[in-house]
Amino acid sequence: MEDLVVVSNRLPVEVKRTQDGYRVHPSPGGLASALDKLMTQRGGAWIGWPGITGPINLDDADTPKDVGYDLVPVSLTERERKEYYLGFSNEILWPLFHDLHPFCEFEPRFWETYQIVNERFARTTKETIDADERVWIHDYQLMLVGEKLRDLGETRPLGFFLHTPFPSENILQRLPWHTVLLRSLIAFDVIGVQTRRDLANLQTALPSLLPDVKIERDEDQLTIEHEKGESTAKVFPISIDFASIQAQATSSPVEREHERIHQRLLLDDHTYLLGVERLDYTKGIPERLKAFQRALEFYPELEGNVTLIQHTHPSREQINQYEDLRELVEREVGRTNGALGSVDWVPVRYTCGHMGFEKILALYRLADVALVTPIRDGMNLVAKEYCATKVNHDGVLVLSKFAGAAEELCDNALIVNPHDVDQMAEAIYVACTMEPEERRRRMKGLREQIEEHNVHRWANEFLETVERRTDPVSKPPSR
Ligand code: G6P
Repeated sequence: MEDLVVVSNRLPVEVKRTQDGYRVHPSPGGLASALDKLMTQRGGAWIGWPGITGPINLDDADTPKDVGYDLVPVSLTERERKEYYLGFSNEILWPLFHDLHPFCEFEPRFWETYQIVNERFARTTKETIDADERVWIHDYQLMLVGEKLRDLGETRPLGFFLHTPFPSENILQRLPWHTVLLRSLIAFDVIGVQTRRDLANLQTALPSLLPDVKIERDEDQLTIEHEKGESTAKVFPISIDFASIQAQATSSPVEREHERIHQRLLLDDHTYLLGVERLDYTKGIPERLKAFQRALEFYPELEGNVTLIQHTHPSREQINQYEDLRELVEREVGRTNGALGSVDWVPVRYTCGHMGFEKILALYRLADVALVTPIRDGMNLVAKEYCATKVNHDGVLVLSKFAGAAEELCDNALIVNPHDVDQMAEAIYVACTMEPEERRRRMKGLREQIEEHNVHRWANEFLETVERRTDPVSKPPSR
């Protein structure tokens, strides 16, 4: 197995400056957690931004030393953090790719800086890679890196995986720079997307917005012919390291934490619902809180007998919409607890801050029902992690139809439309009162699907597709 060089906006660790030096955390989000497990097993290097501005020597930051692969930092200036990371990546591409174009700030300076930083990532990659290493670039922050690497003379096949949804042509063409972005996207040899819906959007948008492009579809795969050669786009639903999460979830520290929370809550015949995610407007947190309120109003037998544990991880805090969301969520939690709670019962237990993975695993263990109800999500690995911890098959997954995970898990999850508050309230009730036999049957089905389609299989299938591009028959005629 060749070493792998992963390139993503963030390194798997986030470094923060403190008064006496640096503090290091695992990076937030599904991308980092899924790829970290993979890289530990495969070895190689991970190129990315450590999360603080200015030059940094990672040795000073006390990053974990035995992860099994190298960390190669890419520095950003404060201006680049604002214009490339917060600006173009998270005030343009993120909302646009999640169908929330009214949130977009189409500022030309952001585009300029996005190009400069993508070029820097390409240069660092070119300087890092050895002759036989595989290069895999990730996510919407780095969509120009393939083309920039070609400009630097790189000829090996290049893979790109988009962790977010890919939007429809109609939405994409609002982006003033969509033609350049799409042109750069097809400079990658293999483009991976999460779902069939994303692939269908790509299939329509590419030939319509780039007139020289021709597409052929064969099941879950597109062959894209363009003036510089040929690329492949394919559906590869990302997953988790099922075995490792299951083992961690039953390890002694997690058992102890689970036991500790349980003891402190002191409510034995109680049903716990759980929401856990980054504090992001795509995650549907206010909608979920409204549905929970509605469920309590419609089904009085839930009163005093259920609790929603909602944990959020602060994210992209300098962006207005994220700040507004924090206030909205706090207001909704207060409203629910004030209007529906009592002296001896708090309907929503809300926390916002960094929580270690062991604590999150303990919460998964505790939760009878997971509410994974984003208004749009590329995949959503919380849904898969929750099921991996349910070794006794004792949990119910309520899942939004707009999460990528719904394509794979729709048979055994309770599928909801997060905008339909009554339907969600009903699903909450059904989940809380489901017969044990049905819970077990559904959870068994979910776990089998996720165990079989785990992160290692995902990576192998993607990298094999890249590998096939080295075959002279399928190699593009010219670059
Ligand atoms: C999503 C994105 C990732 C991103 C993560 C955390 O999962 O797909 O690329 O790293 O969110 O967001 P942040 O802005 O903190 O990197």
